[in-house]
Amino acid sequence: MGRIVGKPNSSSSGSGLRGKDLISFKDLSKGQVISILNESESMLRALTRRAKLEYLENRIMATAFFEPSTRTRLSFESAMQRLGGGVIGFSDVNTTSSVKGESLADTIRVVASYADIIVLRHPKAGAALEAAEYSDVPVINAGDGSAEHPTQALYDLFTIKMQKRRLSGMSVAIVGDLKNARTVHSFAYAVAMFKNNIKFIAPEQLQASGEMVEDLEDNYGIEIEKSDSLDEAKEADVIYIPRMQKERFLDPEEYKRFANYYTINKKFLSKANDDIIVMSPLPRLGELPVEIDNLKSSVYFKQVAYGVPVRMAVLKLILGG
Ligand code: NCD
Repeated sequence: MGRIVGKPNSSSSGSGLRGKDLISFKDLSKGQVISILNESESMLRALTRRAKLEYLENRIMATAFFEPSTRTRLSFESAMQRLGGGVIGFSDVNTTSSVKGESLADTIRVVASYADIIVLRHPKAGAALEAAEYSDVPVINAGDGSAEHPTQALYDLFTIKMQKRRLSGMSVAIVGDLKNARTVHSFAYAVAMFKNNIKFIAPEQLQASGEMVEDLEDNYGIEIEKSDSLDEAKEADVIYIPRMQKERFLDPEEYKRFANYYTINKKFLSKANDDIIVMSPLPRLGELPVEIDNLKSSVYFKQVAYGVPVRMAVLKLILGG
């Protein structure tokens, strides 16, 4: 997939992120990820102090959302405003000229002339890379079809760091709709980068692609197991479970068959590793019943709150504030 593409005012100083697009997690070096995580901790401390930040004063971020979103759009907007910047954007494609037939390329060219950075969500895999080719300002991929969601993986990693006080040498079970969930396709690379072993747990039809598994094994030298049994996740340090991605199933009957395939309930957690943490990009459906919300293992609402400091870090490093 994508490169971190250099824009006219990009530079290679510092983290090397200034002026760059963020299309795929794979485009980030380990050093860059560590820089983002460190900057995220500074941002979290600033948020806790309620510090008034002006790093991105006079900068404008545009959110171009062609697919539904609650967390991603609002946390990006919150992050930009917390940094002193301004926000424009759309979240309902029916209010834009796309409905008149305008191409993505033209929409992006226009939005790029109104803003200093574009955050794009789109149903088509590859849309963010395409947009980056037409944009004079950096583009952040906030989800392209089933392909990727790199800033989600950054705050997933940040959550592991904050909860586990380490990033490496763990067993991570990734459970559920591994075929369609774009968060998985970024998260798996994030945990592999820090040398954690992965158990992909899914029914065969929704398993992680052979291509991704091979890529992870070849490039990161980690151990990968595949199974369809949730029991295999009991000894893990981390469980990551996205919802079944209803909108990506071609056959509604197939969705119904898998909708409640896995449930992380109290009974399961009582048999699991005492230090296990349960993560989800949210929204959650039946896979995470409310009965586990107050258990110490359930960190998904903490995780979602980390979206703001991590996106602040990403915006600050890309816009060079
Ligand atoms: C995810 C997405 O859009 O991929 N949402 C999010 O950004 N946290 C997960 C999902 O929709 O299941």
